[in-house]
Amino acid sequence: MTMIVTGGAGFIGSNFIFHMLDKHPDCRVVCLDKLTYAGSLSTLRSVMDNPNFRFVRADICDREAVFGLFEEEHPDIVVNFAAETHVDRSIDDPAIFLKTNILGTQTLMDACRKYGIARFHQVGTDEVYGDLPLDRPDLFFTESTPIRASSPYSASKASADLLAMAYHRTFGLPVTISRCSNNYGPYQFPEKLIPLMIANCLNDKPLPVYGEGINVRDWLYVEDHCRAIDLIIHNGRVGEVYNVGGHNEMRNIDIVKLICKELGKPESLITHVGDRKGHDMRYAIDPAKIHGELGWLPETKFADGIKKTIQWYVNNRGWWQEIISGEYQNYYEKMYGNR
Ligand code: NAD
Ligand code: DAU
Repeated sequence: MTMIVTGGAGFIGSNFIFHMLDKHPDCRVVCLDKLTYAGSLSTLRSVMDNPNFRFVRADICDREAVFGLFEEEHPDIVVNFAAETHVDRSIDDPAIFLKTNILGTQTLMDACRKYGIARFHQVGTDEVYGDLPLDRPDLFFTESTPIRASSPYSASKASADLLAMAYHRTFGLPVTISRCSNNYGPYQFPEKLIPLMIANCLNDKPLPVYGEGINVRDWLYVEDHCRAIDLIIHNGRVGEVYNVGGHNEMRNIDIVKLICKELGKPESLITHVGDRKGHDMRYAIDPAKIHGELGWLPETKFADGIKKTIQWYVNNRGWWQEIISGEYQNYYEKMYGNR
């Protein structure tokens, strides 16, 4: 079996490639990645020499490159992780989000139509459902919760989901979609909350919490997300959406305090800064469908996963220090300089 994994040099895609090569020795994995600021070949170093692995640098919006790769590889399965993923960047400059996340997905699905495919899996996000109020802990996102995106990022991901469903209905493309809550774990780019706070703590820099820090996210260890996608592509029903999340809601401020505690740093590093525009208050997934149909449950408890993650960043300073030493400095100054 040959699988094309797009965006595999990023956070979740790389973890998914490690998972597939480890659990499915019969599977050949071809990673297609543009290597934007968020992708790094150093992340894939451990699998570069694996005979079941191939890396191709290309843009999912580049029809010629994408169709050429399909012509060569004739993949059985495509899993699309490739995307612009950072909400704050989408607020700063939405255009590339619409291009990559919508038109890139279309290009991949057009190639799937032309060359035939057993499965096209779109990696989606719970952010397409908008947010939930903080004072209604009884409410959760289900697969039938209406789409109500808040940011240009989530609107672009919602558009991609709608397009994928339209390709299923109109052209019979065998599509599945997963919508996952916030992931954490190794190789997450240090612009996102958890790795940013770990890196800043380790460098004794201020910890910029947006607003009061009372926004709630539903955190899932990345390996649990990878197992969910593996189950969906093998046993999930075509044309279906599966929400993925593990009932692990945490307020941002509590996560930042926990990171300070684990690293022995003072909470006085915490600095409240201007809030994100349109900031979603609470995400919370109801995972009953994937549990009931596919038997999926998260395996890593947050208390263990966060310790493992912090330790990974402590042990792999070279990986993130290289990232934050370059263009990231300009990004950081622009986002946080006058906040
Ligand atoms: P990431 O930003 O860490 O990585 C994205 C990868 O996509 C990078 O390797 C980048 O080089 C590549 N890429 C970007 N544009 C490309 C293009 N035009 N062509 C080819 N490659 C391109 O992202 P992530 O956090 O690993 O997220 C992966 C997917 O999972 C995304 O679709 C995201 O929407 C979804 N998701 C993420 C989370 C989360 O918490 N991180 C949760 C739910 C869903
Ligand atoms: O829910 C899934 C989504 O989770 C994915 O689809 C996105 O790709 C992923 O980036 C993530 O989006 P969030 O916006 O929830 O993640 P982020 O790490 O950017 O922020 C998490 C929370 O922390 C959010 O409420 C904003 C806050 N925050 C973030 C940063 C970077 C801060 O308070 N300070 C910060 O410096």
